[in-house]
Amino acid sequence: MNSLILGSGGREHAFAWKISQSPLNEQLFIAPGNAGTAQYGTNISLDILDFPAIAAFCLENAIGFLLPGGEDTLVAGIVDYFKNDPKLRHIHVAGPEKAGAMLEGSKDFAKAFMARHHIPTAAYKTFNATTLEEGKAFLENLEAPYVLKADGLAAGKGVVIPETLEEAKAELHAMLADAKFGAASARVVIEEFLKGIEVSVFVLSDGKNYAILPEAKDYKRIGEGDTGLNTGGMGAISPVPFVDASFLQKVEERIIKPTISGLQKDGIDYRGFIFLGLMNVGGDPFVIEYNVRMGDPETETVLPRLESDLLELLLASCEQTLGTKSIKISPKTSATVVLVSGGYPESYAKGKIVQGLDHPTPSMVFHSGTKKSEDGIVTNGGRVFAINSLADTLENALADSFATAEQLIFEGKYYRRDIGKDLIKLRQS
Ligand code: AMP
Ligand code: GLY
Repeated sequence: MNSLILGSGGREHAFAWKISQSPLNEQLFIAPGNAGTAQYGTNISLDILDFPAIAAFCLENAIGFLLPGGEDTLVAGIVDYFKNDPKLRHIHVAGPEKAGAMLEGSKDFAKAFMARHHIPTAAYKTFNATTLEEGKAFLENLEAPYVLKADGLAAGKGVVIPETLEEAKAELHAMLADAKFGAASARVVIEEFLKGIEVSVFVLSDGKNYAILPEAKDYKRIGEGDTGLNTGGMGAISPVPFVDASFLQKVEERIIKPTISGLQKDGIDYRGFIFLGLMNVGGDPFVIEYNVRMGDPETETVLPRLESDLLELLLASCEQTLGTKSIKISPKTSATVVLVSGGYPESYAKGKIVQGLDHPTPSMVFHSGTKKSEDGIVTNGGRVFAINSLADTLENALADSFATAEQLIFEGKYYRRDIGKDLIKLRQS
């Protein structure tokens, strides 16, 4: 089977690494890819939103399997595009059709879906420019802190959590009246603040059956001790100590099963990943958000624990045969530490030469933002590498990832040295 992966981050590097190990894999292409993905397949230059160009490439190269890494391509409707064209229909595309991708593409859609199917989530109400004053009145009846979410895709920046009522009202005004996030904030979901610990659970669905992949905890803020600006993710750990059999059973019964059956009841054909962003509130799981794809750096953390053939599982999800597959997960602990360019998530330099990639290491070095140049491999993004290690204990996995983080050298390198430390403390308490 020839496959094409769309994207250029650490997530896509991890997908390429894992798919290249499959006995089913023949030729593998990544568009546009990075210096890391080039180790496992051929990078090609394609715009991930240019469906006609992607389709033409697929036909010319006998692609049988297409894996869009990120949400943009899915929300723009790539699955429907391939399904609706008789020449493309035979190509398996992993991911939901556009209607299902709205679980991530519209917060209001996701909240209404959860309400309709009785899936635990924070209480909420949605407002638009004409109901701005009602929104401000609604805020007055809530307690601080306030959670305001731009309805549409806002590159991970659309959630704001003001501490005071005045700030919350000003933020609501900026989103609705001043289009702070453009069209994405034409509607704003205001919801109850949930207090707890976050964890992400990943599910692969074929529309009827599902497989649960390992969970992960990520580290979103740039600074140690969870301070500073939000990023795409500075690290991730799997498994997560508090996700025991009883918590996981609650997630499955209260969230996963009603989500899959809710999609079926709503007539949505969902064959792909569902990323559940959860809050553990005193032992009970609540959905904070749905994503319709895998996370980054969660993919680089979860896939190393997956001992089964990923390509086989993804094809089974497309062919609705997931019920016949079993999935094997390593009991080891997986720890990912992300190296970023100084200044990220604000402005940062690119084109810095990377040294140390040839040193022996027990870690997997996934490339997030790199490219090949005449001078060797250079930085090409805010997040540059996601270093993953698998070991018998969290302490050992972290020690390996931090040692590798020290070995890789580029100007302005920064990483959080506290990844996983909260989980070690939690386990000891
Ligand atoms: P994202 O949607 O990835 O930009 O992340 C938003 C972040 O805001 C989440 O990771 C949570 O930390 C936080 N968050 C979102 N909704 C709530 C909520 N209802 N209560 C508490 N924190 C929330
Ligand atoms: N690391 C968070 C995400 O991929 O959405």
